Amino acid sequence: MEVLITRQEIQARITEMARTIRSDFGAGTPIHFVAVLKGAFMFLSELIRAIEGPVTCDFIAVSSYGSGTKSSGEVRLTKDLDESLEGLNVVIVEDIVDTGLTLSYLQEILRARGPRALKTACLLSKPSRRKNDVKVEYIGFTIEDRFVVGYGLDFDEKYRNLPDIAVLEGKA
Ligand code: IMP
Ligand code: MG
Repeated sequence: MEVLITRQEIQARITEMARTIRSDFGAGTPIHFVAVLKGAFMFLSELIRAIEGPVTCDFIAVSSYGSGTKSSGEVRLTKDLDESLEGLNVVIVEDIVDTGLTLSYLQEILRARGPRALKTACLLSKPSRRKNDVKVEYIGFTIEDRFVVGYGLDFDEKYRNLPDIAVLEGKA
């Protein structure tokens, strides 16, 4: 498989993102990270280890692609958060923003829960496939329209364990 982004590049970029997020919220301000399962679990673990000061995290899961590589356009909540978001500084942590349908759905339902702030961090973005103008404050890497796996991202639940981000040939 062709490596698109190496583990070293990923780690360096996430460290920068962590610094930016911390400085935007301010030193000492609690930040509550909401990671979107399953794809974002590795990104979350690297991101929170690189952030100084008070941090909490929670997990949410949505169904997106099933076993294919094309979005159905339908988003369904399959696991809700454990904690309330009322009054918290929330950062949604997602692996990749593609059409933007998943994130716009999540932003809408989470905003309705009364967070003090709601921002979004995505490791990857494929802007050429966007179907709406979803706002993502923190983007790790912008990539072309190729199907990628590794570092938490899967194809049919496989390849999440790859330490680098690689292109799955023949997909998308
Ligand atoms: P969106 O709703 O089209 O923005 O889809 C976002 C979701 O689709 C992500 O959370 C991923 O789970 C999945 N996805 C989109 N592109 C890729 C890819 O290249 N590799 C793996 N998963 C992807
Ligand atoms: Mg996902």
